[in-house]
Amino acid sequence: MSAEWTFQVSFRPMRLVTLVHRGDATHDNILETREFGVNFASDDQAALASLAGAYTSKEVHKLSSELFQTYSAKSIRAPMVSGCFFNAECRLVETLETGDHTMFLGEVLEVASNPDKGPLLYSQRRYWQRGQLLSKKPLAYATCTISGDLYRINGRLQGVENYPQTVTVTVSNTNGMQIVRENVDTDQYGYFELVKPNNPALKGTYLAKAEWNGQVGSAVATFN
Ligand SMILES: Cc1cc2nc3c(=O)[nH]c(=O)nc-3n(C[C@H](O)[C@H](O)[C@H](O)COP(=O)(O)O)c2cc1C
Repeated sequence: MSAEWTFQVSFRPMRLVTLVHRGDATHDNILETREFGVNFASDDQAALASLAGAYTSKEVHKLSSELFQTYSAKSIRAPMVSGCFFNAECRLVETLETGDHTMFLGEVLEVASNPDKGPLLYSQRRYWQRGQLLSKKPLAYATCTISGDLYRINGRLQGVENYPQTVTVTVSNTNGMQIVRENVDTDQYGYFELVKPNNPALKGTYLAKAEWNGQVGSAVATFN
């Protein structure tokens, strides 16, 4: 079957869940065999995903279609789909009735991946291909946290070729008066932090800005 509600929920042990409607053939198959194969389709497998979701195997032998090439799993009996982005053989660990679907928690026994393939995406009932990497465009964000007699500007500069970089952090008060202007180095991932003493007597709103080559991340915090 096609099952878009399938995702990883643990690294170690590696586990994933899939949510299956109670009337589906796959639902009873998993309960009976206590194992299942997950095949994350690649972006050239939209027809295959559409077919798997259009019929029930109570009535149609879906794997008879030429669209499906399968290989034998190492640790489970279910056939695995070839040409996918990622495959995982799973042993059923737990089931949870969530409403009209049952959540099957699976422990991953074997994986296979195909790094040359892109994943097939499904949104708004349509199939999509992965688009442009967002972090390729530089972007900056900032936060302002005031706690007692300190305030802290935390943020990140993303999508830049090399780190560390120097970010200019400014903090102004409600009257537009600049109270801090400092250059802060990011770490190797682009994260930065600036901690300053806060005068508890000075109530009001702070506007923090982090700037790098025209990229600006800003944050507003009120200290009462
Ligand atoms: C793209 C796509 C995603 C789907 N995702 C789910 C899902 O996450 N859970 C589910 O129960 N049904 C989902 N369905 C519907 C099932 O795939 C469909 O009911 C299928 O016929 C069940 O097959 P079976 O009876 O052979 O198990 C999806 C269908 C499509 C086309």
